[in-house]
Amino acid sequence: MRHLMSPLDFSVSELEKLMDLGDDIEKNPQKYAHACDGMRLATCFYEPSTRTRLSFESAMLRLGGSVLGFSEAGSSSAAKGESVSDTIKVMGAYANIVAIRHPKEGAPLVASINSDVPVINAGDGGHQHPTQTLTDLHTIRSLTGKIENLTIGLCGDLKFGRTVHSLITALARYNNIRFILISPEELKIPDYIREDVLKKNNIPYEEVVSLEEAMPKLDILYMTRIQRERFFNEEEYLRMRGFYILDKEKMSLAKEKMMVLHPLPRVNEISTAVDKDPRAFYFKQAEKGVYIRMALILTLLETEFKAF
Ligand code: NCD
Repeated sequence: MRHLMSPLDFSVSELEKLMDLGDDIEKNPQKYAHACDGMRLATCFYEPSTRTRLSFESAMLRLGGSVLGFSEAGSSSAAKGESVSDTIKVMGAYANIVAIRHPKEGAPLVASINSDVPVINAGDGGHQHPTQTLTDLHTIRSLTGKIENLTIGLCGDLKFGRTVHSLITALARYNNIRFILISPEELKIPDYIREDVLKKNNIPYEEVVSLEEAMPKLDILYMTRIQRERFFNEEEYLRMRGFYILDKEKMSLAKEKMMVLHPLPRVNEISTAVDKDPRAFYFKQAEKGVYIRMALILTLLETEFKAF
């Protein structure tokens, strides 16, 4: 039985196969419409979510399966003091696969160790978000053909943004990827990403504050919101909010073929005027998330359609 905790749980060739399956599902949805008949997905979300939870649910429903779960800690027995490991122990009796999101780093890992069914990390605190990374890789591959030879700018809250940590970790295994890490001093990437991922693998990167300066060099700009819920005080958040706003003027500094991605939700870091720019792909990206999650469910449940 396999779980998904980190993007490194799959090899690069397994990821390729997963994305191939995602592409086939998008092209031939009817072929997969009954692949999970009689199976159930539980979504255990202890933190807010729109896309991740609903794309998981939409994915399972499109595969013929059904869904159950909770969308806030307050409506589960966590509110009565139940541990994640106790909750997950009974989930195996209710569902065939579980997607879990939790504010504490490592909670999904604890769940996976105690689970009788495959567990998917749907985001753990400021740590990792591997299925957003699958979505991001799938989007990049579908836009560029192959994930290589790219200068990728990651902009915003690189300290608390788990999507950024997962994406850098995953992209470090591809050929000729360079990073420009754009953030205020206070929100730079954590040391473990700099040391254990970038330096250890000799990945070229620079850390800058100015988005304008980075703009002309980028093939992809990955914008992120300032992670308000992970700040120690509101004052600090308010100081950082609005630090970066991608608008038409800044877009005019970019390459003609640059791609703008964002895991969403957006707060104010991309002006809505940019949505009409042909280089804005963030809504398309959210759509891709359903197909890759369908591929993931088919694979972890070891159905006849599994990718590997
Ligand atoms: C992200 C998350 O939850 O980390 N959202 C998502 O799953 N698409 C990004 C965010 O909340 O900023």
